Amino acid sequence: MNVHVYKDFEALSKEAAKRVEQQIEEKSASVLGLATGSTPIGLYRKMSEGVKKRGMSYRNVQTINLDEYLGLDPEHPRSYHTFMDEHLFKFIDIPEENRHLPNGKPDSVEEECRRYERLIDSIGPIDLQILGLGTNGHIGFNEPGTEEDEETHCVKLADSTREDNARFFGSIDEVPTHAITMGIRSILKSKEILLLASGKSKAEAVKTLLEKKVTKDFPASFLWNHYNVTLMVDQEAYGLVKTEGR
Ligand code: F6R
Repeated sequence: MNVHVYKDFEALSKEAAKRVEQQIEEKSASVLGLATGSTPIGLYRKMSEGVKKRGMSYRNVQTINLDEYLGLDPEHPRSYHTFMDEHLFKFIDIPEENRHLPNGKPDSVEEECRRYERLIDSIGPIDLQILGLGTNGHIGFNEPGTEEDEETHCVKLADSTREDNARFFGSIDEVPTHAITMGIRSILKSKEILLLASGKSKAEAVKTLLEKKVTKDFPASFLWNHYNVTLMVDQEAYGLVKTEGR
C-alpha cells in the first residue's frame, strides 16, 4: 500500500482528481468505481471543474458505485443515486446509461445482488476504484465481521454507521437499516484502488489500518491483500500515526 499524506482536504482532493483525469486521458473508456459520502465530494468538485475549465470528457467512461441504501427509490433525496447526480453526474458528460448503482428497491434483493456482480464482471474490471473509509473500518458498506470472499450482498448497517450518516438524514431513525453493497471480493477485483481519508474523525481508523493487521474486524485491512492500493490522507487523518513517531 502506498501512503500519501497531504496538507488538507483541498490538496488531497486535487491529487485524487489528477489521478482520475490521468486515468481517463490514458484510457477514455475507463471503468471508474465510485463512492458517496463526504470524502469524495472535493474530488467530484475537481472532476467537474476539469470538464468545465479544461474540456475533460467522461463520455466513454462507465461508473460503478459501491452501494445503495435498501428501501430508497432512486429519486429519494437521500439515495446514493441522488447524491451522485447532485455531486457529480449533473456536472460531467457521462451518458446516463453508463452510470451504474445498485437498485435500492428491487423486487428481489438476492437477484439484484447477483445482477450487480454480473455487471461488475461484464463491464469491469474496474480500472480505478475510489473508496472512503468508515470510522469503524468499513469500505463500501462492508461492516466489521464481513468476510473477504463476499461479493455484492445485502448488509445490516452497523449502529455506528447509521449514527455517522444521520447527519445526511436529520435523525438516526430516518437512516435505512440495510444496504446493498459491493463485497470485499468485488472491490479487490479492481485494477487499482484509491482509499481517501480526511479529517480528525478518521485518525483512529487510519492508525488501525496502518498497523497492517488483516482482520475481518476491520474490513479496510483486506486492502493489504491487493497489489495496487494508494491511501491518500490529509494531515488531520494521519495525525495519530505521526504522533506515535512513524
Ligand atoms: C459510501 C461508502 C462508505 C463511505 C464511508 C466514509 O459509498 O461506501 O464506505 O465511503 O462511510 O464516509 P464519509 O466519506 O462520509 O466519511
